[in-house]
Amino acid sequence: MKRLILDVDTGLDDAVALLLAAGLEELHIEAVIATAGNVGLEKTLENTLNIMETVGATCPVYKGADKPLLRESVEAGDFHGVTGMDGPTFAPRKRQQVQEESGIDALIRLLKENPHQLSVVSVGPLTDLALAMAKEEGIALLAKEIVIMGGSFSYGNVTKAAEFNTYADPEAAQIVFSSGANITLFSLDCTRTVTLDKKRLEAYRKKAGRATEVFAACMDTYMANYEKKGQGWPQMHDPLCIAYLADPTKVECEYAPVAVDIEEGPTYGQTVKLPSHEGEQIRIARSIDIPWFWSLVERALDHLD
Ligand code: RIB
Ligand code: CA
Repeated sequence: MKRLILDVDTGLDDAVALLLAAGLEELHIEAVIATAGNVGLEKTLENTLNIMETVGATCPVYKGADKPLLRESVEAGDFHGVTGMDGPTFAPRKRQQVQEESGIDALIRLLKENPHQLSVVSVGPLTDLALAMAKEEGIALLAKEIVIMGGSFSYGNVTKAAEFNTYADPEAAQIVFSSGANITLFSLDCTRTVTLDKKRLEAYRKKAGRATEVFAACMDTYMANYEKKGQGWPQMHDPLCIAYLADPTKVECEYAPVAVDIEEGPTYGQTVKLPSHEGEQIRIARSIDIPWFWSLVERALDHLD
């Protein structure tokens, strides 16, 4: 059983990551931190609480950072909708509410209380992790591993050069990637290869269950927004990080230090691989067993429904 702390900017693919983590019995969610990213913190928190209520989770949900370290906030509502998770509707929550303790303090506390036992998954801007590292020296090294969705070593999705999560807080990404922690990075180069097509979505829709209903409503919005942008089928960025934790052998990786361009300009937020002697090695996902990934999604939804 892998024990997870999830740092999310719940948006539509973050929602699938949360459903997947909650629905796989080999994983256990210890805590969730909602951070600003796709949309503002109040909305990502509301979306996160609604998903956690839907899956009947009892784990605590915390508030993370409401803005990047230095740059002005940028959002991705064009993919995720005004709420950040347009599509599903939710009854007033009976159980899930946000904790008083800040997400940064909770992250530090949980890692110190459970040294080398918790897998941290960060699928939004890396602000929370960077703030925790700044507040508590060496804290990242207490994580069993840190699995991150972010960056691109080809072309970006928010500028030609940069992927959204690193573009939304480049300085935070630079701090995290150079921390020496046990990091596995899912960049766009891997995540854009896993897309949800209409045939698969329609097949899932036939399942009867609340988790699948929420999944399908999220993916209807995601698919429509990708179609509007002429970008093909929606790309399943964030859930790949969860799938990796379920079985790392299904992911092929390479190793290199990764730097982030923190100079204002056309390549601000771009990620580049460095020669191996020039920094801390990061495990970079190159490819994932795609049919196996979808079998996990089906298993998780069946379990939740
Ligand atoms: O670039 C994709 C990433 O940006 C995903 O995490 C998505 O949720 C958005 O946050
Ligand atoms: Ca995300």
